[in-house]
Amino acid sequence: MDIYQIAIDGPSGSGKSTLAKGVSKRLGIMYLDTGAMYRTCGLYAIKKGVDPKDEAKVKELMDQMDLKIEFKDGEQHMIIDGEDVTGQIRTPEVSRAASNISTLPVVRSKMVDMQRKIAKEQSFVLDGRDIGSNVLPDAKYKFFLTASAEIRAERRVKELNERGDFSQNYEEVLKDIKWRDEQDSTRSNAPLVKVADAIEIDTSKITIEETLEALLAQVKE
Ligand code: DC
Repeated sequence: MDIYQIAIDGPSGSGKSTLAKGVSKRLGIMYLDTGAMYRTCGLYAIKKGVDPKDEAKVKELMDQMDLKIEFKDGEQHMIIDGEDVTGQIRTPEVSRAASNISTLPVVRSKMVDMQRKIAKEQSFVLDGRDIGSNVLPDAKYKFFLTASAEIRAERRVKELNERGDFSQNYEEVLKDIKWRDEQDSTRSNAPLVKVADAIEIDTSKITIEETLEALLAQVKE
């Protein structure tokens, strides 16, 4: 069977990862969460005491970092210097470090190379900000998810609370989402943009299940 890729881009909290996981399961293809890769770089900078905006220091870090991605039972594991850090990359501190470090070309080029290598081995759905525009401009299917910042913040709070995490309230989450939107969309290097051939899905008024069906209907056509 042919190898193909599905690109799902959109801002934080638009439902990309839930959707990509659903696509992966329904179509029996692999899922690569590219945000987890930038998060792991951000975490590494924090661990090493490096400012994620300090380009020269981050370059040294990138040269020494031994980053591996392993897929076990359909779950993506991020390994740095032999340590599985998957459980450490979802904190608000790491989110901010990831957004900062992902603006640097030295980081992006390394991650994009890895993403392209991984995605050409077998069929993949990838989610991120620049998959359709930059990583895989020839992806067979491209989707761009949108939803208002308020709705995305509500969803994020609900998700955190369901996990027993009450550390951030709605206002804090909303502020964080707006800050990341601004930064991810205005950076000069591969910003978040909808490319002309991506199918836009506004997830504000439909559930994730409905979004998944809408997306799969396009793929089946
Ligand atoms: O999707 P996420 O929230 O896990 O992504 C974390 C950060 O990484 C986000 O602020 C933007 C950045 N990112 C990126 O620049 N390019 C990607 N393909 C994926 C994520």
